[in-house]
Amino acid sequence: MTTTRGLEGVVATTSSVSSIIDDTLTYAGYNIDDLAENASFEEVVYLLWHRKLPTKDQLAEIKKELAENAEIPQEVVDHFKSYDLKSVHPMAALRTAVSLLGLFDSEADVMDPEANYRKAIRLQAKLPTIAAAFARIRKGLEPIKPKSDASLAANFLYTLTGEEPSGVAVEAFNKALVLHADHELNASTFTARVCVATLSDVYSGVTAAIGALKGPLHGGANEAVMKMLKEIGDVDNVESYLHEKFARKEKIMGFGHRVYRQGDPRAKHLKEMSEKLTNLTGEPKWFEISTKIEEVVTSEKSIPPNVDFYSASMYHSLGIDHDLFTPIFAVSRVSGWLAHILEQYENNRLIRPRADYTGPDMQKYVPIEQRG
Ligand code: ACO
Repeated sequence: MTTTRGLEGVVATTSSVSSIIDDTLTYAGYNIDDLAENASFEEVVYLLWHRKLPTKDQLAEIKKELAENAEIPQEVVDHFKSYDLKSVHPMAALRTAVSLLGLFDSEADVMDPEANYRKAIRLQAKLPTIAAAFARIRKGLEPIKPKSDASLAANFLYTLTGEEPSGVAVEAFNKALVLHADHELNASTFTARVCVATLSDVYSGVTAAIGALKGPLHGGANEAVMKMLKEIGDVDNVESYLHEKFARKEKIMGFGHRVYRQGDPRAKHLKEMSEKLTNLTGEPKWFEISTKIEEVVTSEKSIPPNVDFYSASMYHSLGIDHDLFTPIFAVSRVSGWLAHILEQYENNRLIRPRADYTGPDMQKYVPIEQRG
């Protein structure tokens, strides 16, 4: 048996949702650069789920469906209020809340395509509300009801802060949502597909995916990047900080990628927004530290930044708590997970690879009283 560590280079499925070819990312054939400049997140959700851009009417319809389904059951809110939120990571709360949501959906185990599409709408609509509600409840604030006529990007910022977000903030946040929406067979998407390939339900697939996204080698890297920026604190400390990390052979969060070798095409858009927003908030130092880190890591290690690197300073500039960065990733990536889950159901086969056994062989059972 040949094994491939971390399944590197293994092609595990066909998919028409998104592609990474020669370091270019497309959603259903549309270049991410084009979408980042022009599309609303809702258009991208439609694109990922239908593989075509919506007409005006189709866009209006999906926006309406998302708005109508954005409220969350009171039980989820009460659940958040029932434990010590200070010691709970928001990704753990989100993972639990999505699993809990399934208990309040009478269609949770109905497996026909229409019911699964309705669940996709519900999950996409409710994830932002859950993340914002958690963030408020842990500060002793009441959750805010989402507006019925606002975009998902505007609504998230509004339900998080209770204030009307600026046009620049909505534009930046929408772009971040578009850029994070899907990414071929990344770890969390693969997790979702493995889960539902057993013909388990949509809620199980998304819950599993949130668990995979949480780790710092995947979505959790954006929070870790902000931690690093704060530890560095000043642009003059960048080189010494990184040299110590290199000497200890520690990874620099927000750099490197399993698939991209020349660089992550999403990073440049986030870099641009980070520069704009850090200047607007009067905290350009986060951008300056970030660009200096990029300069040192790329020149000394030849490893380019990934999607998580500049999203950290950008989200910080939007006033978002650092441990909410990864839940925000989930708020966007759930659109991709759902596209892949629906695609998996359409042409399903159980995903069950093999392991090359390396343990002891030919062991003989020894009764417990005779073991040393
Ligand atoms: N900092 C320093 N060195 C690195 C980094 C990094 N961020 N990334 C890779 N390397 C080095 C490794 O040390 C290794 O060197 P070696 O061959 O001398 O031992 C080599 O590059 C290959 O690294 P692997 O970890 O084997 O690469 P892999 O493809 O398995 O990992 C990953 C990809 C997990 C993204 C890795 O680059 C990493 O850990 N980056 C930091 C965490 C991060 O930013 N994750 C977010 C990725 S994007 C996303 O999921 C949304």
